[in-house]
Order: sequence, then C-alpha cells, then structure tokens
Amino acid sequence: MFLVLEGADGVGKTTQIQLLEKYLLNSTESEVLCLREPGGTDLGLEIRKLLLDPNSGDLSAKTEAFLFMAARSHLVENVIQPSLNIGKHIICDRFLWSSVVYQGIVGGLGVEEILDQGQLATGGVLPDLTILLDLPLEESKQRISERGENDRFEQKGEGYLLQVREGFLKLAKKYPKQIIVVSASGSEEEVHARIIQALKDHALA
Ligand code: TYD
Repeated sequence: MFLVLEGADGVGKTTQIQLLEKYLLNSTESEVLCLREPGGTDLGLEIRKLLLDPNSGDLSAKTEAFLFMAARSHLVENVIQPSLNIGKHIICDRFLWSSVVYQGIVGGLGVEEILDQGQLATGGVLPDLTILLDLPLEESKQRISERGENDRFEQKGEGYLLQVREGFLKLAKKYPKQIIVVSASGSEEEVHARIIQALKDHALA
C-alpha cells in the first residue's frame, strides 16, 4: 500500500504521519516505511536543501518543478518501487500532487503539464490514495508561526498559502477517487481518527 499525505504548509502532516505509522505497525504484518518529499534519499536531501534554502533566491516555477521531479524520480526508482515490490507499506509526506499545486497551479505551469512531467518522473508509480489535510488559513498561519524559522516556501506569505489551499481543494474536486479531503481542525487524535475512517472507507485499513 502506497499512501500520501498532502496539504498546505502548517496543516500537521508530520504529526499525522507518525500516528498513521503507529496505527499501521499495530494493524498489519508488513513493514511500514515513512518518506518525505523532497528527501528520502541522499540525493533527494541535497535537492531539498537547495529548494528550501532562502539563500537560493527566487527560483522560477519551472526550475523548481524539475528539481522536485528529479528528487521524486530518484526516490521512486531507488526506494518506493523496490519497497513496494517486497510488500512494504509506504507513507509519503507529499508527492506529485504537491508539484501540481505549487508549481502547476500557483506557479502557473498548468495541471496537465505537471501531470505529464510526473508520469515521466514516476514511471506511473502513483499512490493508492492521497489524504489531503485541509485547514482554514488562520489556523495554518498560527501553526507555521509557532514553528519559528520559516523555509523559502513558508516565507511567501498569506496570499500564497491561500492559493495553495484552494489549489489542493480544486484538485480534490476534480480527482475525487484519488484525493480524499480530511479536515485538519481539532485535536491530533480527532484528525487521526478521520484519516483512519477515510482509509476504512476505501478498504485500505
Ligand atoms: P515540506 O517540508 O513538506 O513542508 P511542510 O513540512 O512545511 O509542509 O515541503 C517543503 C516545501 O516544498 C513546501 O512548502 C511545499 C513545497 N513543494 C513544492 O513546491 N513542490 C513539490 O513537488 C513538493 C514535494 C513540495
């Protein structure tokens, strides 16, 4: 099983991935591998540093898209596909839908264009389900400010965050079988319970 958690910055993906990992470890025999994009391989981590570093300056959406896709292609070839082949479960913090939203919609490169580029990068290895954690803007801003230091994306401000949220919701509407919206408001336990329910609804838990 290949699951992805998506959402705007500050929605709490990291905490929910930890809770989901624990749940799956208790409920299945298979190993569970948690990954993060960009990252998950040494090369991916290097690309991540370049992309998130405020000192990288203004990168065009196209440059960003190629860098994210390079990290993704390397992760799929070296980690995701081999792990799925031996029956491991994978939970990934962000995947192709992030590129579709950040570079395709907000960056203006186009949804279809990024999906085509993604097809090349992933070779068609796509998640069984994507959970989109959705949070009102005020709450995600609050969570980001509590974290202190912001990366290059988090420094782009409120209008950007709003476009990201709306972009994800638009995609979820267009691709309802692939992306399930889960409210990220409330306590960690409440959000976790909603995620498990969504997986059960899709016969994945
Ligand atoms: P991440 O570390 O997941 O951010 P956070 O934990 O704050 O949610 O991702 C880093 C940033 O990279 C995030 O702002 C979204 C952006 N991003 C893209 O623009 N395109 C992509 O394809 C991916 C995977 C991430």
